[in-house]
Amino acid sequence: MKNIFNGKRLLSGITPSGDGSLHIGNYLGAVRQFIELAKTNETYLMVADLHALTTIQDKKQLSHNIETLVLNELSLLIGELGGLGKLGRLGGMENVTFFRQSDVAEHTELQSILNNVTPLGLIKRAHAYKDKLEKNILEEDINLGLFNYPVLMAADILLYKPDFVPVGKDQKQHVEITRDIAERFNKIYKKNVFKLPEPYIPEEVAAILGTDGKRKMSKSLGNVISIFEDEEIIKKQVMSTYTDPMRIHATDPGHIEGNMVFTYLDFFGQETKNNELKEAYKKGQVADIEVKNYLYETLLKFFAPARNSYQELVKNPSMVQKILRDGAEKARVVATQTMIQVRDAIGLINSYSVAINFQTEGNISIDDFARVEIQVGRVIEAKNKEGSEKLIRLVVDFGRKNKGDQGDQGDGGDKGEEKEIRIIFTGVRGFGYTPEDFLNKQFFFITNLAPRKMMDEESQGMILAVDSEKDKKPLFVSAEGMPVGAKIR
Ligand code: ADP
Ligand code: TRP
Repeated sequence: MKNIFNGKRLLSGITPSGDGSLHIGNYLGAVRQFIELAKTNETYLMVADLHALTTIQDKKQLSHNIETLVLNELSLLIGELGGLGKLGRLGGMENVTFFRQSDVAEHTELQSILNNVTPLGLIKRAHAYKDKLEKNILEEDINLGLFNYPVLMAADILLYKPDFVPVGKDQKQHVEITRDIAERFNKIYKKNVFKLPEPYIPEEVAAILGTDGKRKMSKSLGNVISIFEDEEIIKKQVMSTYTDPMRIHATDPGHIEGNMVFTYLDFFGQETKNNELKEAYKKGQVADIEVKNYLYETLLKFFAPARNSYQELVKNPSMVQKILRDGAEKARVVATQTMIQVRDAIGLINSYSVAINFQTEGNISIDDFARVEIQVGRVIEAKNKEGSEKLIRLVVDFGRKNKGDQGDQGDGGDKGEEKEIRIIFTGVRGFGYTPEDFLNKQFFFITNLAPRKMMDEESQGMILAVDSEKDKKPLFVSAEGMPVGAKIR
């Protein structure tokens, strides 16, 4: 397969429906693309467990499905991208962020917001819902989660601003609905918060037919060839695959077209061997069973690395847990950034603020000044803000979170408790200041201002400065030696 992208961002997901396991249709239609694209692109892959709630409402089954899909998908990724090296290092997986949808709460938060810019008609036209109606299922029996599924999927996608969404053909409509919702949001709030994603569906794998040769390979139709089942089961599935019903004896000339064994061999078999078998088959010189045996061996060989990884992962649950934890953490960083922009665009602004805005108004009333809160903070990260000539971006530690209010002298919060960390900008590069002037030092910060948008982020406070005599160059008052998080007023 040709990899047509480079340096782009991709996102996709698979729902742990059915029994959570993957078949060769899922592999060809979805996972294979993920693997190929992950070699050269930033790739976000999620197990869309919240989507499974539409049909699976049994605790045991849901957790079993999630576990199965996680193991199946990870094994395929690791099997092809890079083995489980010593100490469980995931060589080849550098570009992949693999996570569970429900570990990142922003998905449901954004869905809730997007609901309000989504017209009912758009969702009524979605396949998932329409198919049910066509099957004469009563509206009474369709839950709102299923109906609203495309909005959750839109949230899944838009949070990560991907360039492309690799999916099977059946998901194309959902990506189109996502674009529609994104456009509406951007238009209503007059801000290009969301990037419009493109579906990516290689034509030749748009829909793989099942072993019955008639319908799309699908778990629910029982016409699949599994990837991780026991060898006997895979053998049975291969042996029952549809070939040429008109051919009774091995000496009868057979058809290749529509013969599923050859269809699958075209993807997995070796080309010269495939051609040899095809020629022989057409001339009635090879039996079905021989071709099927070749397919069976080919599949086992092809998926051997993935099946081995599977065995490894099953033996190492803590490693799987770590992958998911790391993945969720990385995903959350991106999702949180997007949500800051969304909240800002729609006017859901954090309200720890008093409405003081010295920076634009230059003066402040005595009453407002009386409400200013000043705290000691330690700069733990300082960088020039990319794309700005003035701004330095500080990450500031204010010690323990949720510390008591009255006269509490924060203690630096090094007891493993959660810390209060804020991003605070200062626009002083023009005066010759560099990030090093701030890094690992302590200053006073005003911490109850309305968050202020600085380019793509919010400044959650302000560093305290006094004017110097010369050129009004601001001087920063050192708070070295004082307890981090201490409230000065
Ligand atoms: P199933 O229909 O077996 O339940 P899912 O609907 O869970 O499979 O699909 C998971 C992913 O695999 C989706 O991206 C879907 O487009 C893709 N996919 C599923 N079946 C096929 C198939 N027969 N051919 C190509 N892609 C498929
Ligand atoms: N709806 C997809 C499926 O059933 C799974 C999915 C959920 C997804 N969220 C997504 C796919 C976001 C791509 C992008 O297969």
